[in-house]
Amino acid sequence: MPEPMGMEPLLKIKDLEKSFGGVKALDGISLDIPENSVTAVIGPNGSGKTTFLNCINGIYVPEKGSITYRGKSLVGRKPHEIAVLGIGRTFQVARVFKKISVIDNVLAPVLRSKKSPARLREQAVQLLKRVGMGDLAQQGGGDLSGGQQKLIELLRAWIAESDLILLDEPFAGVHPELKARFYGEIREMRRTGKTFVLISHDMKSVYALSDEIVVFDLGKIIARGKEEEIKADKRVIDAYLG
Ligand SMILES: Nc1ncnc2c1ncn2[C@@H]1O[C@H](COP(=O)(O)OP(=O)(O)OP(=O)(O)O)[C@@H](O)[C@H]1O
Ligand SMILES: [Mg+2]
Repeated sequence: MPEPMGMEPLLKIKDLEKSFGGVKALDGISLDIPENSVTAVIGPNGSGKTTFLNCINGIYVPEKGSITYRGKSLVGRKPHEIAVLGIGRTFQVARVFKKISVIDNVLAPVLRSKKSPARLREQAVQLLKRVGMGDLAQQGGGDLSGGQQKLIELLRAWIAESDLILLDEPFAGVHPELKARFYGEIREMRRTGKTFVLISHDMKSVYALSDEIVVFDLGKIIARGKEEEIKADKRVIDAYLG
């Protein structure tokens, strides 16, 4: 029997493997991401979290396994093709163009959009105002703090209307006030139906924002569950939280 409508996960990952030389960065990861959820991925340095996102958005091609988004296989597609399918991304070190204006940075993913440029620009202005960066719209991208640059990447996902947004350490080194704005945007996007994969070492943020927590260690999933389950799991305490 076919699965009932709406039950199919947005993203299905099965038996993913990716190695660098002798290092198995991903060693058989299987994970389903339900639509309109926040899944946190935590784990020690080098456990494969960033590699996992890099495989989903096409920066790396896994040696084994499948990645299926809305029924389409992603393996072998280029990052820009994957972006067009509706997957947005922020990076551990933000990728903002230093020499173009903040507003043009927000608009970067929609240079070829069919929407009217004036409307898109107005939307970008509103988004920047909402996160308290309205005054910075005409500054250069290089004038922003690291945290502000990460927030710009999130606004790009808004503008591009990405349905699945991959966040790699969005809160690392981010000023508390900016972090609160980040939370607000993530919650608002979630309210409008978006889906997130959130990598973070900031456990407060993980507990505050996620529906489920998945724990990586040495390229494998060693535990998954809610805050209480993760905190009580001996393997998680030994590998990471302890
Ligand atoms: N481009 C690469 N070339 C060689 N090795 C790599 C590359 N990318 C990742 N690795 C290795 O793969 C493993 C997983 O790295 P990854 O960056 O995915 O970890 P992470 O969980 O994101 O760590 P962190 O919390 O420090 O960001 C590490 O051993 C890392 O050295
Ligand atoms: Mg990483």
